Amino acid sequence: MPAPRIKSPQALVAESGADREGHGLKRTMGLFQLICFGVGAIVGTGIFVGLSDSVAQAGPAVVVSFVLAALTCVFTALSFAELGGAIPVSGSSYSFAYAGLGESTAFLVGWCLLLEYGISISAVAVGWSQYVNELLHSLTGGQLPAALSAGPGDGGIVNLPAVIVIAMASVLLVRGVRESARATAAMAAVKLAILLAFCVIGYSAFKDGNLTPFSPAGLGGIGAGTTAAFFSYIGFDAITTAGEEAKNPRRDIPVAIMVCMGLVTLLYCAVAVAAIGAIGGDQVAGRPAALSFVVNEVTGSSVGGGVIAFGAVVAIASVVLAVMYGQTRILMSMSRDGLIPRVFEKVSPRTSTPVAGTLIVAVVFAVPAAFASLGAVMNLCTIGTLAVMAVVNIAVIALRRREPGLARSFRVPLHPLGPLLGVAFCLYLMYETGWRTWIQFAVFLAAGLLVYAAYGRRHSTLARTAAEVTPDGADREPQAV
Ligand code: ALA
Repeated sequence: MPAPRIKSPQALVAESGADREGHGLKRTMGLFQLICFGVGAIVGTGIFVGLSDSVAQAGPAVVVSFVLAALTCVFTALSFAELGGAIPVSGSSYSFAYAGLGESTAFLVGWCLLLEYGISISAVAVGWSQYVNELLHSLTGGQLPAALSAGPGDGGIVNLPAVIVIAMASVLLVRGVRESARATAAMAAVKLAILLAFCVIGYSAFKDGNLTPFSPAGLGGIGAGTTAAFFSYIGFDAITTAGEEAKNPRRDIPVAIMVCMGLVTLLYCAVAVAAIGAIGGDQVAGRPAALSFVVNEVTGSSVGGGVIAFGAVVAIASVVLAVMYGQTRILMSMSRDGLIPRVFEKVSPRTSTPVAGTLIVAVVFAVPAAFASLGAVMNLCTIGTLAVMAVVNIAVIALRRREPGLARSFRVPLHPLGPLLGVAFCLYLMYETGWRTWIQFAVFLAAGLLVYAAYGRRHSTLARTAAEVTPDGADREPQAV
């Protein structure tokens, strides 16, 4: 069996120009912007739309589900922090896998990220559409016709708002990273303020009795609630995609990841307790636009619900913006490595952004957002994300062995136990997604391997460089370059 094609961390950083200025992308993001970017990428549909699903599974014990989902992510977040600080390039988990486990695994990680980011952007855009209607309803009493605000699988023709939010995000992303970062920071502030206001209103009507029975569906319900709650944390990895645009990535990326995870977990638990404490789990479970409903019930007017709907519209739009940003940067790295067509790596000298790549991503992701019913494939998004997270944990262990001297601004504590626990949590949640999802995922991975064999492996820059260095090297597998 040939040795894996591995690219050294030093080569990844040197090629991206990540440790110097003037490499195409601009270094404009400080620690504060990175934290805002993280909150922007994480807090959205999961809490504003998905909370009612998690409560339907776990009841008031949804708080435990949120903590367990956070724990799953925290071990992996520590691994992302170590690798994001050591290899600050825009490819994120894809590049970490390239350095730790080799090119074919890296390609499959990039392939899974398309699934994670593609489905989550589309799902988030669809969630946005629900809250736009809620907002319109509270402002004007009317709503968009179902034909124009839902795809064919959900009783409509085309989900126009979902397409519009993707188009708006791509315009901002094309204009420049500074503009996008400013917009994300403003949106993160608005959503934090509105969720905090929600907590104040919810706690003003808090009744102890609403939290009992605490766990109506027992451990099974908590487990199912954890799988549902996991979606609310997706996006923290996007922080590492800013490695080439952060001012001090080696110091700030690990800090930003940790701050975001702590902040978001506290916020989710506080919002869940406020919602259930105010009106009871049965009232929250399965209800569309549940947070607006809670506020309307507590205040006895639809004004508060309208403000929450506004917060949701802003919050969810910022997730679309941040996740699309991450996707374009990962594709840039894959393109730079020759594994996908070169168009994705081209940076406009005028805006310093990957304009063509951004527009392609926008068009491709707008199609499922407009027409698909995503409920059926949400588990596929979850399993793909978890698989990537498991690989990143393994890459930490592999790189500690292969590159013990690599400069690491942050080190995962309790290594290798921490990353191994990260893998174990990911595998547990993957198991919870059910056998149908595993089969779909296996087919998806097989398709990825075919694409890699047909295109990526042949066009790989790493393979070509090695072949040029040693004229007879075409038959040899290159090691670290
Ligand atoms: N975590 C993101 C959200 O909840 C995907 O919208």
